[in-house]
Amino acid sequence: MLRSCTWVHFLMDSDERTVSRYLTRGTDHPNRYRILDVVPVVGAPPVAPSGGMCGLRYETTVPSSSLAPGGPDHPLPIMHFWGVAQHLHYTDRHARVDLETRSRHELPPSERTVAVLIPIRKSAAWWGLSQDKRQEFFLNKARREGHIAIGSRYVEGISRRLYHCRYLDPASPYDFLTYFEFDRLDEPRFRMLLSELRDVRNNPEWVYVEHEYEIWMTKVG
Ligand code: HEM
Repeated sequence: MLRSCTWVHFLMDSDERTVSRYLTRGTDHPNRYRILDVVPVVGAPPVAPSGGMCGLRYETTVPSSSLAPGGPDHPLPIMHFWGVAQHLHYTDRHARVDLETRSRHELPPSERTVAVLIPIRKSAAWWGLSQDKRQEFFLNKARREGHIAIGSRYVEGISRRLYHCRYLDPASPYDFLTYFEFDRLDEPRFRMLLSELRDVRNNPEWVYVEHEYEIWMTKVG
């Protein structure tokens, strides 16, 4: 039997009714979004880059990767992402306390609140590394900062959630869903964070990213 844990679902469609019907009892913290853009980074996104769609995010403790079947009257949303919140794998106690103390909480819905969902898949070469080798990529080493040191320079302004989806059934095309919120005044800093994390000279972990795109949204509810 699966242990109780937090599942997240992101649903996106051009018709608000298609996503709203999934708001039932047991769905925690639902949020609504207006989708602004879908930006390819590595590989192609599943839908053509476009705005004009709406989104819904909810968390639940009910294990549920798949959505209830659609049908002519209830089509499935154009995009569906699912994942689970897990324990930390690479963060030591010092970094954990530091990040927890300084990290920004989620922002209230507003025309000023930008939300970005970034689904990511890493290569077989990454998953073939030993645990200690993978952890090294997150740490500050000679001549490079690594993921945690880079990210920790941005935590005050940017809220982040990490969901895992590598070993779920049905299988997800991604290993991770990363989700961020910030005030629109902080958008330049968020873009700077992205370019720093993707600079493989300072963060060689990103060599192993084989699929990545950004879904830019406004958090409206
Ligand atoms: C806001 C600044 C950020 C901070 C402080 C931060 C911090 C962290 C930390 C501490 C972990 C390790 C979690 C663990 O121990 O299991 C992690 C994992 C991860 N982060 Fe970030 N991060 C930030 C921004 C980002 C961004 C912008 C992206 C995407 C473009 C991203 C993608 C990921 C992914 C995919 C993982 C999981 C990697 C794996 O387990 O192989 N992070 N992050």
